[in-house]
Amino acid sequence: MSASITHSATTGRDDAMDDPDWWRQAVVYQIYPRSFKDSTGNGIGDIRGITERMDHLSALGVDAIWLSPFYPSPLEDGGYDVADYRNVDPLLGTMQDFAGMVSAAHDRHIRVIVDLVPNHTSSRHPWFQEALHAPRESSARDRYIFRDGRGANGELPPTDWTCGFGGPAWERVEDGQWYLHMWSVGQPDLNWNNEEVRRDYLDTIRFWSDCGVDGFRVDAAQSLVKDMDRDDLNDWSLQYDALPSDGSHPMYDRNELHDVYREWRRVFNEYDPPRFAVAEAWVNPARQYLYASADELGQVFNFEFAKADWTAEGMRRAIASGLAAARESGSTTTWVMSNHDVPRHASRYGLPQVPARGYHQIAQDWLLRNGGSYMEDRALGTHRARAAILLELALPGSAYIYQGEELGLFEVADIPWTELEDPTAFHSGDGNPSATRKGRDGCRVPLPWRHDAADGFGFSPAGSGAEPHLPQPAWFSCLNAQDEADDPDSMLALYRRAIAMRKTLEGMTSGTAGTASSVAWRPENGGDIIAFERGNWICITNFGAEPTPLPQGEVVLSSAELMPDSTVPSDATVWLHATETA
Ligand code: NOJ
Repeated sequence: MSASITHSATTGRDDAMDDPDWWRQAVVYQIYPRSFKDSTGNGIGDIRGITERMDHLSALGVDAIWLSPFYPSPLEDGGYDVADYRNVDPLLGTMQDFAGMVSAAHDRHIRVIVDLVPNHTSSRHPWFQEALHAPRESSARDRYIFRDGRGANGELPPTDWTCGFGGPAWERVEDGQWYLHMWSVGQPDLNWNNEEVRRDYLDTIRFWSDCGVDGFRVDAAQSLVKDMDRDDLNDWSLQYDALPSDGSHPMYDRNELHDVYREWRRVFNEYDPPRFAVAEAWVNPARQYLYASADELGQVFNFEFAKADWTAEGMRRAIASGLAAARESGSTTTWVMSNHDVPRHASRYGLPQVPARGYHQIAQDWLLRNGGSYMEDRALGTHRARAAILLELALPGSAYIYQGEELGLFEVADIPWTELEDPTAFHSGDGNPSATRKGRDGCRVPLPWRHDAADGFGFSPAGSGAEPHLPQPAWFSCLNAQDEADDPDSMLALYRRAIAMRKTLEGMTSGTAGTASSVAWRPENGGDIIAFERGNWICITNFGAEPTPLPQGEVVLSSAELMPDSTVPSDATVWLHATETA
């Protein structure tokens, strides 16, 4: 089932890669491989494409790349439906290409993190195919969650749950049983109370660790272990925005789940340096720290930035919760403004900052109220995105940046319905044409590497004439890596300067400083101003409409031109070195 290992655990490593704390204050760049760079001319990004663009990542200064799934997959959920956990999708390359990519990254001291998707497999996974043809109560079925239905003939699903993309969370199979899928029908949930499932996952972790990967991002980490035998299941839903703080939910964040991660940690620690992991865990904030503790995964995503509006109050709350979770776990926190599931923040910040119903809602609320047109103020969005990245990079912890945000890309919100790939678009509102949510493709459009539109703005090889798998907008000719690399005022130039400078500023080294999880709030902090310092490094962001005075110090970086009277303009962040006052 899995590919053979063709290279050693030490691929491309040298002494500089030995630091076991590298991830504590890292800048991690998320790659959505199918949309990063196409090296073959089929319109789909691939592993060699990543290798080809390693110099872009090195010039950006990132410490690590995290690859969203590149495994064989029928793509019912952008690759988060995995048919073989231990191989590369042939459309994206080979294991040999993967080894080359890891070496190219390590040569530049860039670590590699891969995605683990343990909650569910693809329905094309050999285990699920076996389960479909196996009898009830068989060991093949026990790897998944099969149940009899309700009603006189079992014709009703075991519970009324709705799955993540809309529609029922249960699907009926030929012999009348139902299987659980929290996400799409092509993503059957694994049964983590099954010993074989647990053991097999340890093999997957060892497999990629032996291939030289430095860490893992754990998908839907809150949902693995379930208590499916209690009779109050229907009193709960699969929504996870208000989970209990005592581990009592039958499906999420159960106490037994943490035994799984403690077992994984023992495997991570078999390696030198130990492998690292970051959890995507949608849980009650009071329990986030469990996932990040040293005997479990090590770090957990803090999505409060991705959820917050562009207001000082929202951002201050997000910062406070991230720092508190880090202190509790004894780890460092993470900062995330965008990823492959969220509308791009340069667009979110350019929209009216109306209270949103939820995580993915900001753009959609506005979109719907405006008859489908997407009315962001792009100049404002860019201005704020520049301020936001300096704020984020000044905070202690790891910053996760999503491919294309360094180019200042906006959400591509006008992809025609017929060209969308995300299951959200097919299932919300009970299917097209009454679907109400376009989903996540707008942030997954293939990247523009050059200004001329040919070959997908340089996404595919020159002269290939390939069509990118999602349509690109004409405005990519103004926001692309080629032009921005030569423009000192571009978003790319700002990201490069900020990441390089962050490494030299107080608190950014590993060791004791690398564990930093607090800031000292400045007297200017409050109202529309967020201002803090770390050592002699001061960061001030002005969210208000009026300029605000600069703190005493030497300006080292600014997201916008400073006012002649030395004030911080509206929607700008400034970094300063504190100078001694007389
Ligand atoms: C979270 C991933 O980020 C998302 O893209 C995916 O759809 C779900 N988990 C299910 O795997």
